[in-house]
Amino acid sequence: MDRQSVRTDRLAVDGGQPTRTTPFPAWPVADEREERLLLEVLHSGKWGELSGDKVTTFAARFAAFQGAKYGVCVPNGTMALEMGLRALGVGPGDEVITTSYTFIATASAALSLGAKPVFVDIDPRTGNIDPEKIAAAVTPRTKAIVPVHFGGQPADLDGVVVVAQRHGLRVLEDAAQAWGAEWQGRRVGAIGNAGTFSFQMSKNMTAGEGGIVVTDDDALNDLCWSLHNVGRVREGAWYQHEILGWNFRMTEWAGAVLLAQLERLPEQMPVREASAQYLDGALAEIPGISPLETDRRVTRHARHLYPIRYDATRFGNHPRAAFIAAMHAEGVPCISAGYVPLTQSPAIHRALHDLFGPDSVAGIAPCPLADEAGEQVLWIYQNALLGDREDMESIATAMEKIQAAWR
Ligand SMILES: Cc1ncc(COP(=O)(O)O)c(C=O)c1O
Repeated sequence: MDRQSVRTDRLAVDGGQPTRTTPFPAWPVADEREERLLLEVLHSGKWGELSGDKVTTFAARFAAFQGAKYGVCVPNGTMALEMGLRALGVGPGDEVITTSYTFIATASAALSLGAKPVFVDIDPRTGNIDPEKIAAAVTPRTKAIVPVHFGGQPADLDGVVVVAQRHGLRVLEDAAQAWGAEWQGRRVGAIGNAGTFSFQMSKNMTAGEGGIVVTDDDALNDLCWSLHNVGRVREGAWYQHEILGWNFRMTEWAGAVLLAQLERLPEQMPVREASAQYLDGALAEIPGISPLETDRRVTRHARHLYPIRYDATRFGNHPRAAFIAAMHAEGVPCISAGYVPLTQSPAIHRALHDLFGPDSVAGIAPCPLADEAGEQVLWIYQNALLGDREDMESIATAMEKIQAAWR
């Protein structure tokens, strides 16, 4: 590809030739490993977690992969958060501190338990919760902190754990996007009291849906096991229920697929990392395009998303949505606007109103840096990062071409 000449072409949104016409790597990835394990489940007749061994084997392997002692699989990451919070003692009227720049499940999990999410602003360099701002949000009702490892980059867990210890709070890591990620040489998930992961369709390892809670804590693990299995007791009778739980059991189909996905992840992680490092260099040269930074204490980034800050003033004041449309037309469909910050979410406002009254909505503390990220940040998806050098070059070329046309 000749980047110099492509840059001066007419934009594809204006009827010109697109920068690229070949697709980026497809997602999900599966091969005979998934096929063999799925057929094994089919022919075994053991399709549920309590009869087969795929889910329990996966839970143990994934927990070990994250450097945690235990794991309990559940149907999705939302249920993992809800169960993790409940196991940590969060209940009606409690407060849970988290970030506004995240997926709705991070906060809805607390609301489902009758607890109030309290939003704290982000560090604009990384998009993760700013631990410096947590202490000011602590009240006598605060029970837990839920840091989110946004895009696969661990949040500042040193800072979070220090505040948690000072105030006697529990920490549930929302590691939905952080399979294999490391903070200062330690895999995330069990650095706090517990951590949750998602295996939903877009995630770097997936069974279409899926989730897990990992922890090093024996009692917490037993409680999660009971909660996910309708309050049963390990080694107890079938109809012995000591607490009220849920049926949050994963199917063996999902367990089988995830065993294969976990085998593949270590092969894919360096590919995504190399692509991200290339983009860090190439995109830094485009005025108005600023990749978010990686904290130096992050020793392994899961690279679920490659987030970029877009400065419209360097693109002839074309709004972000127009830039995304232009990128799609150039043959780069793997780019989108990210979250609407949760402090702005009508669903969160309604739930707060219904549970805690109108003052709780009016009293949401502003998170201006998360709002700014909500307006400026773009995401490139993880499957694009599985592409080769030429694929990454074409992303930079498309951006340069758009800039040249709009400047
Ligand atoms: C940060 C974050 N938290 C929670 C979830 C919820 O996971 P799930 O979609 O598996 O319920 C997701 C994924 O969608 C997520 O990205």
